[in-house]
Amino acid sequence: MRSILVTGGSGFIGSNFLHFVLARRPDWRIVNLDSLSYSGNRENHAGLEGDPRFRFVHGDINDRALVDELMRECEAVVHFAAESHVDRSILDPRPFIETNVLGTQTLLESLRRAGGRRFLHVSTDEVYGSLPLGDPESRFSEETPLNPHSPYSASKAASDMIALSYQHTFGLDVLVTRCSNNFGPYQFPEKVIPLFVTNLIDGEPVPLYGDGLNVRDWLHVEDHCEALLAVLERGKGGRVYNIGGSNERSNLELTHLVLDIMGRGREMIRPVADRPGHDRRYAIDARRIRSELGWAPSRSAWPQALAATIQWYVDNERWWRRIKSGEYRTYYALQYGAR
Ligand code: NAD
Ligand code: DAU
Repeated sequence: MRSILVTGGSGFIGSNFLHFVLARRPDWRIVNLDSLSYSGNRENHAGLEGDPRFRFVHGDINDRALVDELMRECEAVVHFAAESHVDRSILDPRPFIETNVLGTQTLLESLRRAGGRRFLHVSTDEVYGSLPLGDPESRFSEETPLNPHSPYSASKAASDMIALSYQHTFGLDVLVTRCSNNFGPYQFPEKVIPLFVTNLIDGEPVPLYGDGLNVRDWLHVEDHCEALLAVLERGKGGRVYNIGGSNERSNLELTHLVLDIMGRGREMIRPVADRPGHDRRYAIDARRIRSELGWAPSRSAWPQALAATIQWYVDNERWWRRIKSGEYRTYYALQYGAR
């Protein structure tokens, strides 16, 4: 039996990863360490709680004693835990440094002491910065210099470099993945797709930033999970793997499609002030993971995959309504109230 420590498994991608891996690797055991920050939700893995192959530990990745204890039990670590929302990093950058930078270093230090374990650091295409709209052929490759622009992406870039420095200096088995924008079930409704869908269910307008022409490369979360499993099992230590779906859409195009699928008109769009420092375009060159590991997306076909995701939020109203009723209201007023 293989024993994996997952951090941040109560969030969006982490919880999808737990379900994905336990369904495909029946002899694996997973311990999920998660502090249940505002975006962590135990309901995301409620269906796994009776499974003897799964254990949830409520704790912080900065708790060194706890991390040391869990590290001893596992053969590999998949590290998702992070502050993940760009807009929150503009409101208050500090937690991003504490979790993304210091938390990652705490895990790596524990790994260094334990030795002999594989560490998969889950990162983002945002570390590369922004591509121009006028050069549609340009893409981020693994060799593109890091040029992060937001406190979120700067904290992720720092953690990537620290992780790779532990590989280079201490010979640890570290890998880094950098993925484009994910969509799918269990995404916290601060991110654009679940925010817009749940607003529309409630008959509220959708706040579109700036001119709406910013471009994102959308990948279904299960395609991301499949890529992570391939990297964990077959990736080459010390390597960075970009992950993306070649599915570029402007925010305006995405918004129009969401409105059409949900049978709502263009009058539901509320143009609002742009995000400060808003990256214009992300696009991934995923040739390395495709050729070395044979990975290719199979669940991201547009618009069917988007329609299925929208349907998930329609069918799981209880899940997001609970989230939207608490601290979320304060956040929403702060983020959008005076915009
Ligand atoms: P999320 O915000 O939904 O989940 C983050 C999880 O980490 C939550 O469960 C939270 O409780 C937990 N967490 C936060 N601080 C913690 C701490 N100090 N100790 C323990 N747990 C803590 O985020 P997500 O969208 O699932 O992203 C997961 C990872 O994937 C992040 O590292 C993010 O940078 C990366 N990523 C996300 C995307 C995307 O489109 N969402 C794309 C590429 C990469
Ligand atoms: O590229 C990967 C990244 O994708 C991840 O590293 C991040 O964790 C994840 O949050 C996501 O970052 P983005 O900033 O691209 O995602 P977000 O859903 O916040 O915004 C997507 C686009 O939609 C972006 O151009 C901003 C715009 N937007 C967003 C919100 C929340 C709006 O126009 N209105 C909104 O209300």
